[in-house]
Amino acid sequence: MPYYRVAGEIPRKRHVRFRDAAGNLYAEELMGEEGFVSDSSLLYHVHPPTAIVKSEGLTDVAGQARLAPNHPLLPRHFRTQDLPSGGDLVLGRQPMMANDDVRISFAAADTASDLYRNSAGDEAVYLRSGSATFESVYGTITAGPGDYVIVPRGTIHRWLPGEGIVHALVVEARGHIRPPRRYLSQYGQFLEHAPYCERDLRGPDGPLLADGEDVPVMVRNRDGLTRLTYAYHPFDVVGWDGYLYPYAFNIADFEPIVKRTHAPPPVHQTFEGPNFVICSFCPRPLDFDPEAVPIPYNHHNVDSDEMMYYVAGDYSARKGSGVGLGSITLHPSGFTHGPQPGAVEAVIKGLAEGKTTTDETAVMIDTFRPLLLADPVRTAEDPEYAWSWASAARGKVSPQSADQGPGF
Ligand SMILES: [Fe+2]
Repeated sequence: MPYYRVAGEIPRKRHVRFRDAAGNLYAEELMGEEGFVSDSSLLYHVHPPTAIVKSEGLTDVAGQARLAPNHPLLPRHFRTQDLPSGGDLVLGRQPMMANDDVRISFAAADTASDLYRNSAGDEAVYLRSGSATFESVYGTITAGPGDYVIVPRGTIHRWLPGEGIVHALVVEARGHIRPPRRYLSQYGQFLEHAPYCERDLRGPDGPLLADGEDVPVMVRNRDGLTRLTYAYHPFDVVGWDGYLYPYAFNIADFEPIVKRTHAPPPVHQTFEGPNFVICSFCPRPLDFDPEAVPIPYNHHNVDSDEMMYYVAGDYSARKGSGVGLGSITLHPSGFTHGPQPGAVEAVIKGLAEGKTTTDETAVMIDTFRPLLLADPVRTAEDPEYAWSWASAARGKVSPQSADQGPGF
């Protein structure tokens, strides 16, 4: 998707004979989106990518997590920092929220994953902390805190955590995850007004060659999870080229767009998927009109559920809401949300004292259909969150914040 890239050896033209030094033909494979009418790449394998020797149906624990409507309707706060650690970045996912367009999970991974292919849609994996090596048929991406790793549907890959635990938010789309269309020229180049561009995207170093026979790959499709055993290791690509490949983008490379008075969340949009958007709230100057109210207005997005993941910055300043690093809030359609009572006065006072920036970072996902809640996340729910605005308004909790955070 992002732009043309080539790695390793490729022949001079598409679909011509391409041989190794011993005269053996490489096996050409097209990975293409939307039939043959959207972005694609051509990969050249040592062995046929079609050779499978076994297929076993597995229980898809994450995919079958029980989902329940957000009923009775409530704003929610989940403390992922209270969820258990362990497992890998694929089968160790703890489902949090989902609808027919997207599933959002949390992972605190410390072990290597199996080889994995998601054939139901693209994935965006956001690393809040820890580091990991992402290996794929296209090559290797080294990922660290703040990275979004976008994995196109069908990419065979695995995650190898580095030292420590990888805390990650995993977004599985039922379709493609791409930069917003409005950031791109008609031919796909990032325009000057876009908050990031090609130079900020990190493609795979590669290709990656591995030996092996009878290699299992976990394949998720719409019907569940299958273990397909391949006759040869899928990482046998000597070269590839095209527009379709996994890539990383670090949230610190997002250039915030600021206004004199408060800017709405679309200025923070980073990616779009089918019926959802992903936004990055990054450190930036507070709104700078002398009369500005430099934090969000109360708002009710009548067509959206809004999930916010608080990933960096000083959230101790949000005492009273209970939100901290690692927290996830859900502000659903049907509920008006906004700053805690007293926060506007506090931030205006802070401005007068010279605090003119916000240092907090958050990842937001707005879905255009309601999010259902998965069982695993319920154990991490803060039952008091829904009442935190009223508690502050009635003086039971005094907001100590000079900064309401980036949310909105
Ligand atoms: Fe909001």
